[in-house]
Amino acid sequence: MATLAESKFVAPIIRQTNMLINGKWIESRSGKRFQTINPVNETVIAEVAEGDAADVDAAVKAARAAFDSGPWSKMDARDRGRLMNKLADLMEANLDELAGLETLDNGKPIADARAADLPLAIDCIRYYAGWADKLTGDTIPIRGNYFCYTRREPVGVCGQIIPWNFPLLMAAWKWGPALAAGCTIIMKPAEQTPLSCLRLAELAQEAGIPDGVINVVPGFGATGAAMVKHPGIDKIAFTGHYETAQKIMIDAAATLKRLTFELGGKSPNVVFADADLDAAVAGAEFGLFFNQGQCCCAGSRVFVEQSVHDKFVEKVVARAKLRQVGDPFDPKTTQGPQVDADQFHKILSYIDKGKSEGATCMTGGNRVGTKGFFIEPTVFTGVRDEMAIATDEIFGPVMSILPFNGVDEIIERANSTYYGLAAAVWTKDVQKAHRIAAAVRAGTVWVNCYDVFDAAAPFGGFKMSGMGRELGAAALNNYTESKTVTMSLG
Ligand code: NAI
Ligand code: MG
Repeated sequence: MATLAESKFVAPIIRQTNMLINGKWIESRSGKRFQTINPVNETVIAEVAEGDAADVDAAVKAARAAFDSGPWSKMDARDRGRLMNKLADLMEANLDELAGLETLDNGKPIADARAADLPLAIDCIRYYAGWADKLTGDTIPIRGNYFCYTRREPVGVCGQIIPWNFPLLMAAWKWGPALAAGCTIIMKPAEQTPLSCLRLAELAQEAGIPDGVINVVPGFGATGAAMVKHPGIDKIAFTGHYETAQKIMIDAAATLKRLTFELGGKSPNVVFADADLDAAVAGAEFGLFFNQGQCCCAGSRVFVEQSVHDKFVEKVVARAKLRQVGDPFDPKTTQGPQVDADQFHKILSYIDKGKSEGATCMTGGNRVGTKGFFIEPTVFTGVRDEMAIATDEIFGPVMSILPFNGVDEIIERANSTYYGLAAAVWTKDVQKAHRIAAAVRAGTVWVNCYDVFDAAAPFGGFKMSGMGRELGAAALNNYTESKTVTMSLG
């Protein structure tokens, strides 16, 4: 394992650990701070201001004022777009620093942070900057002598609660449509990874986005819950576990907030015998192991048609063994540590369950080293649909391979899950591909590819994988209200 000193990239200086309310970087009202931990060596990176209900209340006052009567409500839509483009330019100018913060706090390989997280986040802000002055209503021919039209208005103050797996990218997915629509924001970054979001908010200030438009209140679940309950917030956007979403739904009932959820998955990745096998193997490896397996859309049920099963297993196991686990600041590393102790223990316990339920561990299955949250790339075969490793979201580098026979069987088995976030199919037969694409109950289907994301393409879940869509024009629906205006023409 290369040490930090040997690698080309180094951890950046941490500039900001306070919370941002109404344009001021301040301590929490309670004075409390929490530690964010380096997943490589379990040491403290920094202590970050911890918000509670009083801080949330102050943030809501700022966001309300900026929305109801402040500069944001008066600004021309095109000027909002211009400020968003400025923010994207500043992100690009500070790409190395932001990628370094992401790697330091989350543990993801610097090569991935630079090649995926940052470009996608920048692209997302630019894409939505373009939408700012293009949200139009309709004119509607109603009965009688009336002029009827709709206005598309911002939903208001948005509480945005994000997870730790793609901290900066999740912030961009949430800020983009909110800012384009003219909403104001209170964001709670995940307790594991607050640093890149704080720096991003500094850049938003530098870009000239007015005080109160973006507020950032770091903290734990209780801070998020205070946002969900606050009557001054109009909408909550959440990404994380479905059990958390269930709590949010209950807490939001009293004020009937608009809710959007992007939750997890147990996505089927289906490989037919007629597929380009090497492409399917590479796609299965990437679809599962990318980001240490910490992806909501991870292809964690790899279904392989019986006749190519053994060949596929041999190839995918060989590739798993080649993965470079180690220091995420080493540019050659392809797998860093899991984000924290909770996730690390959760994953190891699923590996134990897989073994005790009778699946065969073909490679991996253990911790790497004695410090930090590193886990070997792990592949199970002989997995049956009812095993815990085939039903539950593991959120780690653990692949389950299940054999299948034919289209009808695989459609039923792919859908026998309470999740419905993503799916993929590998085949050269276009009829098969389209049949699967239509039959699988999931928000995204990839054909002969995996994890292809674009700011313009909607993303979200069927069933217990979520409500509403992020990205694309679809996300703007969740950040706007439609108002009908009817005027008598005499
Ligand atoms: P989580 O759902 O508890 O946390 C996500 C965010 O929600 C964090 O910012 C957290 O502070 C906040 N939160 C927690 N409780 C809350 C509450 N009652 N009200 C409002 N906000 C609250 O997820 P966690 O504990 O980090 O991970 C647990 C599992 O969730 C993972 O192992 C994985 O299976 C899944 N997960 C899925 C993600 C996705 O992208 N869909 C992302 C992160 C986790
Ligand atoms: Mg939690």
